[in-house]
Amino acid sequence: MADLQHWLDRWQQDRIGFHEADINRHLRRRLPEYGLSPGATVFLPLCGKAHDIGWIARQGYRVVGIEISRIAVEAFFAEQGLDAEVVESERFRCYRAAGITLLQGDFFDLRADDLADCALVYDRAALIAMTRAQRPDYFAHMLTILPADARMLLITLEYDQAEMTGPPYAVWEEEVRDNYAGRYDIDLLERGDIIDERERWRKVGLTALGEVVFRLEPRA
Ligand SMILES: C[S@@+](CC[C@H](N)C(=O)[O-])C[C@H]1O[C@@H](n2cnc3c(N)ncnc32)[C@H](O)[C@@H]1O
Repeated sequence: MADLQHWLDRWQQDRIGFHEADINRHLRRRLPEYGLSPGATVFLPLCGKAHDIGWIARQGYRVVGIEISRIAVEAFFAEQGLDAEVVESERFRCYRAAGITLLQGDFFDLRADDLADCALVYDRAALIAMTRAQRPDYFAHMLTILPADARMLLITLEYDQAEMTGPPYAVWEEEVRDNYAGRYDIDLLERGDIIDERERWRKVGLTALGEVVFRLEPRA
């Protein structure tokens, strides 16, 4: 059960195998395809200290991220050499610098007015960080807080959950469609087997690992 304490402990113990050393290759390739307006806001749920945050900001977009771990948020700004302004609010501790706003707090405390300007959601290792039991709430909350015209770039993993417990959890295409097709046209951009890039998981018994990239466009 990957609850909040699980994630806080992982940051505390520096067990952050999910953190990518570089910009995510799908983000780098796909973000330009959205043709966002300069200054548009990109939302990163469960953002960690991903290098993607800074890269998106450097493309000329505003970034809003939510992350439960203060260690992660403070590490992000420190590693980027950015001196963030910090403001405490009732729900979040809010860090701001260089067009980047990171809210330290719980995703489930976000409200629609926090994301009123969101043009694009970039969901990498966020949906798949949620357990099967948490995911219905995650989908429902996401649909509640996003503006109707927000688009999404979503990356999921598909594997036999009997071979590995997770996180990350397997989220199959059918589940994405069951939960998002009511609001979005869903385009499966690519699916590849990336097991060769995850030697550690192969060693614990994983035989195949599908990585799937979706583009979600709100229905007109
Ligand atoms: C698998 S990591 C992915 C981080 C980031 N998206 C990346 O690509 O590196 C999931 C992150 O979500 C955070 N997290 C988990 N549950 C959360 C919640 N309910 N609200 C905010 N952050 C949460 C964890 O602390 C962790 O940093």
